Amino acid sequence: MSSETQFDLSVVGELNLDLVLYGLPETLEFDREHLATDLRLTLGSSSAIFAHNFALLRNRVGFSSAIGSDPLGDLCLARLAESGADLSRVRHFAGRQTGLTVILPRKKERYILTYPGVMAEMRFEDLDLDYIFRARHLHLSSYFLQRALRPRVPELFRLAKQAGLTTSLDTNDDPDGRWENDVFDAIQFVDVLLPNEQEACRLAGCEDSIAAAEKLSEKVPLLVIKRGAKGVLARKGKESFEAAAPKIDAVDTIGAGDSFDAGFLHQFIRGAKIEDCLRYGNLAGALSTTRQGGTEAFRDAAHRTAFLNR
Ligand SMILES: Nc1ncnc2c1ncn2[C@@H]1O[C@H](COP(=O)(O)OP(=O)(O)OP(=O)(O)O)[C@@H](O)[C@H]1O
Ligand SMILES: [Mg+2]
Repeated sequence: MSSETQFDLSVVGELNLDLVLYGLPETLEFDREHLATDLRLTLGSSSAIFAHNFALLRNRVGFSSAIGSDPLGDLCLARLAESGADLSRVRHFAGRQTGLTVILPRKKERYILTYPGVMAEMRFEDLDLDYIFRARHLHLSSYFLQRALRPRVPELFRLAKQAGLTTSLDTNDDPDGRWENDVFDAIQFVDVLLPNEQEACRLAGCEDSIAAAEKLSEKVPLLVIKRGAKGVLARKGKESFEAAAPKIDAVDTIGAGDSFDAGFLHQFIRGAKIEDCLRYGNLAGALSTTRQGGTEAFRDAAHRTAFLNR
């Protein structure tokens, strides 16, 4: 079907900005003024960071999402448009508010506070399925933030498979911490599951990532577990793979997971060997950590090209 497809990949998910305030003090006190040392207002949200960086790897991306009728939504659109992703199916919800994530990083950790905005209101009925299925692959991230869509995500993946697409899911964290089993209704139609270590353990209900890998590998054809600076491990049935991340001084790990997904799927949809998908995913994840925010390193074309060709 590739000769008829309009897109290499369709993304369904949220679109908002990240407000990153650097220089978190040791303690945050009520009713005191604390000074940040730096600030970035940059494209945020897992789905949008993924779509942006995947498009900049020279892929045709169709992005299905929703924004509110406010200046934040316009800023999101303008920034994502620069990547070349198609935004014709980003719905504008009149009188509603686009979401925003405030991130307070310190060393390797960060506080993350998200106001979901319209991302939690987008429903299955808001999607143009013909448009979404005009692609070779469907990727969905932040499963637990898509509150209105969530009950019908399994149906979306099932129909995508029926239409001949391959599929991937990066659940990201569950802000409610419940990790309810309905996610497995969707996972049964997923070809590549892309959690980080902590998420893999929560999904599988296991203490360690090795046990989680064992359990989850029975549920999906290909399981890829992201392990930050340690790189990645993967399971395809009984076969195990491991790939170390490049050794670099990370500036900021926001969006590293979504960038990994972009690099990995760039190779996956071209039929590359798993080892090559993992290597390229690690390179893309590491690239993302070389600049602040989730998309800044990708936006610098010279830097991006040099890093990915190293
Ligand atoms: N410090 C680092 N050095 C090199 N590579 C890194 C570093 N941190 C992350 N990466 C790369 O990025 C990938 C994803 O990182 P991580 O495990 O943090 O994902 P995540 O928790 O899903 O991230 P996100 O917060 O974006 O959702 C890693 O597997 C690795 O390839
Ligand atoms: Mg992640």
